[in-house]
Amino acid sequence: MLPQIIQGGMGVAVSNWKLAKAVSQHGGMGVVSGTAIDAVLIRRLESGDEGGDVRRALAAFPNQETANHILEKYFIEGGKAADVSYSNAPKLLINASRHSNDLLIVGAFVEVWLAKEGHNGSVGINFLEKIQMGSAAGIIGAMIAKVDYVIMGAGIPREIPRFITEIAQKKASYITIDIVNGESERITLDPAEFIDVTKFEFVRPMFLAIIISDILAAYLARDESSRPDGFIIEGPSAGGHNAPPRGKIEFDADNEPIYGPRDLANLEKMQKYGYPYWLAGGFGARGKLQEALDLGAVGVQVGTLFALCSDSGFTDKIRNQILDTLRDGTFEIHTDMLASPTGFPIKIVSLPGTTALPDVFAARPKLCDMGYLREPIMLKSGRVDYRCPSEPEKPYLKKDGTMEETVGRKCLCNGLFSNIGLGQHRRDGYDEAPIVTLGSDVDGCKELIKDFPGGWNAAQALDFIDVQ
Ligand SMILES: Cc1cc2nc3c(=O)[nH]c(=O)nc-3n(C[C@H](O)[C@H](O)[C@H](O)COP(=O)(O)O)c2cc1C
Repeated sequence: MLPQIIQGGMGVAVSNWKLAKAVSQHGGMGVVSGTAIDAVLIRRLESGDEGGDVRRALAAFPNQETANHILEKYFIEGGKAADVSYSNAPKLLINASRHSNDLLIVGAFVEVWLAKEGHNGSVGINFLEKIQMGSAAGIIGAMIAKVDYVIMGAGIPREIPRFITEIAQKKASYITIDIVNGESERITLDPAEFIDVTKFEFVRPMFLAIIISDILAAYLARDESSRPDGFIIEGPSAGGHNAPPRGKIEFDADNEPIYGPRDLANLEKMQKYGYPYWLAGGFGARGKLQEALDLGAVGVQVGTLFALCSDSGFTDKIRNQILDTLRDGTFEIHTDMLASPTGFPIKIVSLPGTTALPDVFAARPKLCDMGYLREPIMLKSGRVDYRCPSEPEKPYLKKDGTMEETVGRKCLCNGLFSNIGLGQHRRDGYDEAPIVTLGSDVDGCKELIKDFPGGWNAAQALDFIDVQ
């Protein structure tokens, strides 16, 4: 049975296994984030794995040699000292090391395994198409944990249906990696290299593509190898990255991009195609589920309402700061056209202490030590290198980048880890500051906080959305 309420994937580890499990146990579908899941694994182990959850999941991984190696390398009993830095995961590459793939596979396995532990509800995992180099290994790890749904947005995920079908058949499969100014290459992985597949049965998960337009739905559906099992149609108010408005971009008085009717999917066409679809972006409020059903949808995908619930990965400090602004009416959010190195607009909450504020941003010494949003580039010299427009300007320019491309870019990798209490402490003493994304439609949150002045949990959020 298809889920009516999907709790959207929210990176990095805002939708962690605890949130997804709480949602799935209460009749919705919980979705864990697969973004930077290798570093999430390392940082949880180096923080001491309080409660032993990660170690319990590691003990269930089919290849114990790999699991033990990771445990021995990263686990710190009691957690690392506050003035010590976390170890970095190897940066994503086209020709990744075995260890890098192991971390991605085991990281995704742990997250899904824990989200599924102890109940029969469905669990999904979310990846970003933009982070192409991490997807193949992450999806395999999630499939080893028997994930029910793979969900992908932030690009055109045309290869995933074929990839998951082939992996489920225990075959090697590939994902194509775009190279700026160069010919694309492939990352090919064989699950048999990572676990003993003779003793294992995969189940092919369903694949849902996150899209904004019916045109993309028609494009993906035209061929079996790219056809998703359903679509999540995201409107412009949704949290996280958004698609830019179509055509020439115009801005309002607050310098916000203006979205118009052309930016909304044609739902009559979607109904004609006959594929299941869910609506996302401002659907976490009373009456909105019914509205989506009336528009022919199977249900809704909701992010913001769950991001702010007590089961999410946000630190209490950040959650409470935001809840305060909802209570006193000072909540402020902007669609930033430049902040994300991906080039996509991203919604950023104006929150004190985060790099949304100019002084906090200016105080951050630039550095690129995580690199999830680096893209491969064929340099004029003929060599393939990797670059991110929010890395320090000098190396970026050396990699055939332009100064213009670096303006206003923020380090999402480090900022997003600080949101969940796993931020880096640098050797020079600098602590990475958070950067928070949410959706711009917070009507549902403002309503729910009246019922629960101290904040709500995942089950209460689900009941609230479900009220007809
Ligand atoms: C904190 C946060 C992080 C998000 N991260 C991701 C992500 O990593 N991948 C993704 O596909 N969508 C992401 N989203 C979008 C949600 O999955 C969901 O589609 C969206 O929030 C729905 O709109 P709403 O926020 O108005 O409910 C994120 C949303 C939030 C609020």
